[in-house]
Amino acid sequence: MRIVRTVAELRAALAPERAAGRRVGFVPTMGALHEGHLSLVRAARAGSDVVVVSVFVNPTQFDDPGDLAAYPRTEEADVALAAGAGADLVFAPEAAELYPRGYATTVAVTGPLAETLEGAQRGRGHFDGVATVVTKLLLAVVPDAAWFGAKDAQQVVVVRRVVADLGIPTRVEVVATVREADGLAMSSRNARLGPADRPRALALSRALGAVRAAIEAGASAGAARAAGLAVLAAHGVEPEYLALVEPDTLDPLAPADAPDRRVLVLVAAHVGPVRLIDNVTVTPPAPTGAL
Ligand code: PAF
Repeated sequence: MRIVRTVAELRAALAPERAAGRRVGFVPTMGALHEGHLSLVRAARAGSDVVVVSVFVNPTQFDDPGDLAAYPRTEEADVALAAGAGADLVFAPEAAELYPRGYATTVAVTGPLAETLEGAQRGRGHFDGVATVVTKLLLAVVPDAAWFGAKDAQQVVVVRRVVADLGIPTRVEVVATVREADGLAMSSRNARLGPADRPRALALSRALGAVRAAIEAGASAGAARAAGLAVLAAHGVEPEYLALVEPDTLDPLAPADAPDRRVLVLVAAHVGPVRLIDNVTVTPPAPTGAL
């Protein structure tokens, strides 16, 4: 396992691998690795010959300087965990390596993909920051495939758009959200949940469960959403959003819609000082038409 800090070192390390025809897999992260990230590294290991993990807390995707400052930085532990899960190379650049003096280019995804939900809450600069850093990382590594977590569902939609629109020759792979035993989606932010907030954080996964159950029972989108909102309220958690959308376009379902195909259900809420997000994809039951 090697750590490299510059794009030049990274390219030099990967050149012989590529020349030998080995498949390069890539997992971009902001560090503070947990089981969710490690599931991505293991999936990359299973699908590649060489696995690169990046550890970079990308300043351009944070709307809130306090959130950026509070973001955990645990590089030594990250490197050990990445190696244990099968990484061959960790790319851990300084900010100036990716954003040198005079840097002036942004990759901006326009329209609802980047402007709704997380984009509306965090400001449209959030997904510009994600799109820009992911593009830069993919250009640095040029992997055959890159692995992303389903927990950041909107990020996945945005990244797929960027990769398709810019013709980046990388396959985007998505790995299911890893959860704690009680259902809380794993996140680097969970470490900041205090003892009183940790049980309340279950509001998100439970609300999603209630929406899922309602859709599976044939409820309209509006009724299913109301079921989820009731669960959040019962935990004293005010959502930033709880939305039922079409999974590829993020188009919202109208309240009266009776879901008849896959629905992506997303929720975001502050629990104490910590902002959490979660989602599930629900497949409604097939209609039981009379023969
Ligand atoms: O999902 C993340 O951790 C980040 O948004 C990513 C993809 C590493 C870009 O900074």
